Amino acid sequence: MSETIPFVDLESQYLKLKPEIAAAMNAVLESRAFIQGPFAAQFEEEFSKALGASYGLGCANGTAAISLALEALGVGPGDEVITVSHTFFATAEAIFHVGAVPVFVDIDPRSYTLDPRLLEAAITPRTKAIIPVHLYGTPADMAPIMEIARRHDLKVIEDAAQAHLATYHGQFAGTLGDAAAFSFYPGKNLGAFGDAGFITTASAGAAIQVKRLRDHGRLSKYEHDVIGYNQRMDGLQAAILSVKLKYLPHWTASRRRSAALYDSRLRPHGFKTIEPSNATESAYHLYVVEVENRDEISRILDEVGIGHGVHYPVPLHRQPALKDVMPERVAMPHTEHAASRVLSLPMCGELTEEKIDRICSVFLSSAKP
Ligand SMILES: Cc1ncc(COP(=O)(O)O)c(C=O)c1O
Repeated sequence: MSETIPFVDLESQYLKLKPEIAAAMNAVLESRAFIQGPFAAQFEEEFSKALGASYGLGCANGTAAISLALEALGVGPGDEVITVSHTFFATAEAIFHVGAVPVFVDIDPRSYTLDPRLLEAAITPRTKAIIPVHLYGTPADMAPIMEIARRHDLKVIEDAAQAHLATYHGQFAGTLGDAAAFSFYPGKNLGAFGDAGFITTASAGAAIQVKRLRDHGRLSKYEHDVIGYNQRMDGLQAAILSVKLKYLPHWTASRRRSAALYDSRLRPHGFKTIEPSNATESAYHLYVVEVENRDEISRILDEVGIGHGVHYPVPLHRQPALKDVMPERVAMPHTEHAASRVLSLPMCGELTEEKIDRICSVFLSSAKP
């Protein structure tokens, strides 16, 4: 039987970096800087610099990063936040965490990201912010989104949880809106060894408020200015992320090469894959192909040991937690269509052409476009 191919090969990545990671972790253990502290400060500086962001703040996870950014920008109870239904549940969850409600709009089927042409119709007097999600690592079309947001005095928070080093008109995701949220969940393009997240912003005021909110509402040891949270970054995660950040440009280039190889094998057979616009360079967190007989292909891939996933089979407006609490205001045909057809094939910085050929040959043997 042929070798199995994992969906994300965290094992070979770890084995390559093992001595460096062990040294970084040991430095934290020796200094006992377990929460925030110098290792988190160093990573904050490095990741902000890598993106060209004015301010960058580490936090506990990507979900907290979205809610901290929302709250720091003044979004709260009673407000509406426009976002997409074709995303991970956390995007909407974070909106509820600050007491606001999500309003969903459909996606552009080419990029699978928020369709700016549908934004204005979703704006009401209660709308306070927009969260475009750079899904699969592909930046949303930010220029029209920002133009509409400015005209209606709305804040824009990029959900960049899947988009480390993705670019839009040559600028990194995370520097395109009023603030942005990143996740360092282990399987992300830049992944910690546990939970971790990050907020970037160009606003000094928002940055200081995030700093307060993530640490029990304080900036000094004994004075709590506001009611905050315990959503700080761990020193161990920061030290591990600093090691991995050095390799991120190389892994991102490798993901792009892999996506181009997949495209060259699958598109000639009529399969629809992600079509990032000319203005964007996707970070390809996921490689997604649409397929008619998804359940059958999933079974075949399982049988031969090829990892895969579906991101995401149930749109947020149809999730049990949300379907009764929020009315479906508009039809979202592209969201529904994508949810029923998308399949994610193996993707990570360690994928080889040989493996892609094997995956594509198994896929093409039975898949229907
Ligand atoms: C699009 C999106 N938003 C938000 C999150 C939440 O990040 P985390 O799992 O770090 O809380 C994730 C990842 O899980 C995600 O993929």
